[in-house]
Amino acid sequence: MTILPGLLDTEAIRKDFPILDRTVHDGKKIVYLDSAATSQKPRQVLDALNEYYERHNANVHRGVYTIAEEATALYEGARDKVAAFINAPSRDEVIFTKNASESLNLVANMLGWADEPYRVDHDTEIVITEMEHHSNIVPWQLLSQRTGAKLKWFGLTDDGRLDLSNIDEIITEKTKVVSFVLVSNIMGTINPVETIVRRAQEVGALVVIDASQAAPHMVLDVQALQADFVAFTGHKMCGPTGIGVLWGRQELLEDLPPFLGGGEMIETVSMHSSTYAPAPHKFEAGTPPIAQAVGLGAAVDYLSAIGMENIARHEHAITQYAVTRLQEVPDLRIIGPTTAEDRGATISFTLGDIHPHDVGQVLDEQGIAVRVGHHCARPVCLRYGIPATTRASFYLYSTPGEVDALVAGLEHVRNFFG
Ligand code: ALA
Repeated sequence: MTILPGLLDTEAIRKDFPILDRTVHDGKKIVYLDSAATSQKPRQVLDALNEYYERHNANVHRGVYTIAEEATALYEGARDKVAAFINAPSRDEVIFTKNASESLNLVANMLGWADEPYRVDHDTEIVITEMEHHSNIVPWQLLSQRTGAKLKWFGLTDDGRLDLSNIDEIITEKTKVVSFVLVSNIMGTINPVETIVRRAQEVGALVVIDASQAAPHMVLDVQALQADFVAFTGHKMCGPTGIGVLWGRQELLEDLPPFLGGGEMIETVSMHSSTYAPAPHKFEAGTPPIAQAVGLGAAVDYLSAIGMENIARHEHAITQYAVTRLQEVPDLRIIGPTTAEDRGATISFTLGDIHPHDVGQVLDEQGIAVRVGHHCARPVCLRYGIPATTRASFYLYSTPGEVDALVAGLEHVRNFFG
């Protein structure tokens, strides 16, 4: 058994995740290396969901009866937990959405309908990067098409990092918003937030950070990031699907218009016009994802009890080991940083000219679950001249033994395809 410094007690942790005991294909133990797509869920989160439905299920902010008040307290309690987890100055800055995509669409639409000084229009510019997930590209393309604002982006270096050599030409006095990913979902690159934020602040542009692949894996402190908005999703951080978060600075949330209209987001409604509830409710129209928020609250408790620094240290050790071992596989090319520094626990690669779908299928026959394809970040594949990659991603329950299983699995793939 390989022992690395900094590892968590995975034997104990894995007991919390019932699915990790599953076998596939005639008794092969599952080796789950797709946590960047979605993490597995610990029993503590599953129990919280069950308990909510079995004992407290009611709509929130409406009923005056006991279980409705309990449901409201649980839902709003989850907001408190998330606010503390990301060091938000106020709980009212935490908006619950369906997922990170909805969070990013929400910001783009707030800005599209905003008055000055936030308004994005034909005389302004939007800046993103070539390593964004589609969820941080398409909403800005839509906004650009609707308003006439120019969409610009940072390109990539050959080793999978942002090319910031022309930062002053990309972010200019015309830039209204800079939106970028903190940790790339395809290459694992951790981006230099400070440099980008400093330049954006110089020109008075708003900063939006997609922290979907950061929140599950490292300490996420929205005040330290100095961004204006931070988006992430619950299901990648041990929570259920159907719950995302948008954190935004309070004064912006007060000034910016709502996107979705409906119940719960209003103060008063007449047949002629409406006034809106204060944030966060202004941005949470309709019945919210109540059970999902409760589940996310339980996930936050679970991760906090282990400690995000400890999780980050564990993943760093696993990533370092995986980067080294993968580079021993003949014909394997890592797409992205080839060192363990400044990178997260997500590694994409190609294997000679074997198509990633074939790689994924042969690995699956051995019980190894990886993601293959363009990972909703197709511009990255275009940049590196490849149709797709195989991606292995690790989390707090991943072990060096699973890295060894992946490497052995890839040897098998190579033999299989001659
Ligand atoms: N955004 C998820 C991924 O990168 C689905 O795999």
